[in-house]
Amino acid sequence: MLDSSKAVTDEGPRPMHNLAPIPELYVSADSAQKLKVEAGNLVSHDLTPRQICDLELLMNGGFSPLKGFLGQADYDSVVETMRLADGTLWPMPITLDVSESFAEKVQVGQDIALRDQEGVILAILSVTDKWVPNKAVEAEKVFGADDLAHPAVNYLHNKAGKVYLGGPITGLTQPVHYDFKARRDTPNELRAFFRKMGWRRIVAFQTRNPLHRAHQELTFRAAREAQANLLIHPVVGMTKPGDVDHFTRVRCYEAVLDKYPSSTTHLSLLNLAMRMGGPREALWHAIIRRNHGLTHFIVGRDHAGPGKNSQGKDFYDPYAAQELVRQHQAEVGIEMVDFKQMVYVQEKAQYFPVDEVPEGSTVLDISGTELRRRLREGLEIPDWFSFPEVVKQLRKTSPERSKQGFTVFFTGFSGSGKSTIANALMVKLMEMGGRPVTLLDGDVVRKHLSSELGFSKEHRDINIKRIGYVASEITKNGGIAICAPIAPYAATRREVREMIEAFGAFIEVHVATSIEECERRDRKGLYKLAREGKIKEFTGISDPYDVPAAPELRVDTEGLDVDTCAHQVILKLEAMGLIKGQ
Ligand code: PPS
Repeated sequence: MLDSSKAVTDEGPRPMHNLAPIPELYVSADSAQKLKVEAGNLVSHDLTPRQICDLELLMNGGFSPLKGFLGQADYDSVVETMRLADGTLWPMPITLDVSESFAEKVQVGQDIALRDQEGVILAILSVTDKWVPNKAVEAEKVFGADDLAHPAVNYLHNKAGKVYLGGPITGLTQPVHYDFKARRDTPNELRAFFRKMGWRRIVAFQTRNPLHRAHQELTFRAAREAQANLLIHPVVGMTKPGDVDHFTRVRCYEAVLDKYPSSTTHLSLLNLAMRMGGPREALWHAIIRRNHGLTHFIVGRDHAGPGKNSQGKDFYDPYAAQELVRQHQAEVGIEMVDFKQMVYVQEKAQYFPVDEVPEGSTVLDISGTELRRRLREGLEIPDWFSFPEVVKQLRKTSPERSKQGFTVFFTGFSGSGKSTIANALMVKLMEMGGRPVTLLDGDVVRKHLSSELGFSKEHRDINIKRIGYVASEITKNGGIAICAPIAPYAATRREVREMIEAFGAFIEVHVATSIEECERRDRKGLYKLAREGKIKEFTGISDPYDVPAAPELRVDTEGLDVDTCAHQVILKLEAMGLIKGQ
């Protein structure tokens, strides 16, 4: 444990750190008031959640020395060399992506208002650059592969707009946060806190996960090694899709905070939108921490790792992030404290870095996947692994799977049998009872939710995203959503999956009836009309259908009756632990 009686102040062996205020991009309150009125007449861009995170850190100095969203020369240089055009180290492109239609309304030289999702003007962007980036090159160079299994690459291709705008920012007001206000600090607020406390050597621990005993041991050791105070600095902006939500995590951090001596450790929340960019991201995190007044930064195994690529291999070597930060730490002005993975040694009842485990001893570890399985299935989580207070919080937000909401998402051609199987499934689930069931059938949705939409790609995407949104709300609140649209596009289905997996399981069921069979059945007479050209853009005839590559279940309606198909879904739900015998 850290010894609070020996709290490290300014006697450390390394030179004192500069805790002078860092430049922000905000104008004075008076100017902000005036500019806000004037900005009411400017073309407005509604910021996405990720852009709001980026803007907040640009404005408060967290991304210093950036003065705004990158222009083209800086962007090209960052992508190619990890440096701004003037040579300053900066590994992550911070860009303002917009749609083509919005970009058409904007000229270089113009000012635009940047608004949050409630319409509040947060900043003015003076547009100096407008260009169409080569996203494949950005993906390769920045994230190491143009592979959609990487969350940031998927974001780049499927969520980000096609055009980038760059230019300096005039900051008017901070984005509002209603949650955990007292735990959020700007770089200057943290610097002021360190000055007040007399802390000169401070090591930051970056995390997007709840803290378990291994993390606590690692942070204790890091602080001891660096002879520094400790800042637990979790990301609460955007992390990897599927992570534990930040509300739960912050409750977990608060629950373990009193295990640290209060005079040596501080908890502060960082509203960063992570990219899961491994080595480049680690370096970016180090720069952000330097800006927050930290002198040391912990980099563990697989820092900001995105998991497996589409070939099932790790995107990055687990220690590549440490290597890159090591090369640049002097230039950044922060010292890395590197750590191997921490594991529990049973005979010693203690944690050790994996390379310091005494020979012949029994090593215990529970991976993130295993932890999620145990939570899902309501199994024991041992005390050597985590703190009872943390486990209690996790169980509250992740009740076992048979008590969580979920979504069954049927996809297939018109007339494939989606609606019939979906109906049968709904009735079977209602017979079992326990959770409310809602059926969002393709035709019904088009009548009630999407009556104004047609069948262009754009309209189909809107339709599917609406279904996804409703299903995610049902899932979040513990219900069962059954969806049965055609949903012909893989990228949109993936987006819906991500929306839902934030709250519960997503079971994609491909109703794999062939187009020939659907046309032969032609229950609604639509295929005939489509062949005659009387219905345009008809899925399977004159519009594409991306066959799901890895659905949770594929059912074959040509060889099986409806009851059996619905039963196959029930068996799958049982196998996934989503439904249980009473
Ligand atoms: S989509 O692509 O997911 O938005 O389609 P969806 O909302 O499921 O609507 C499909 C139903 O609309 C009828 N219909 C068409 N389908 C495909 N292409 C075209 N152009 C089209 N025009 C009308 C058709 O009856 C579909 O019904 P289902 O329930 O799939 O048989």
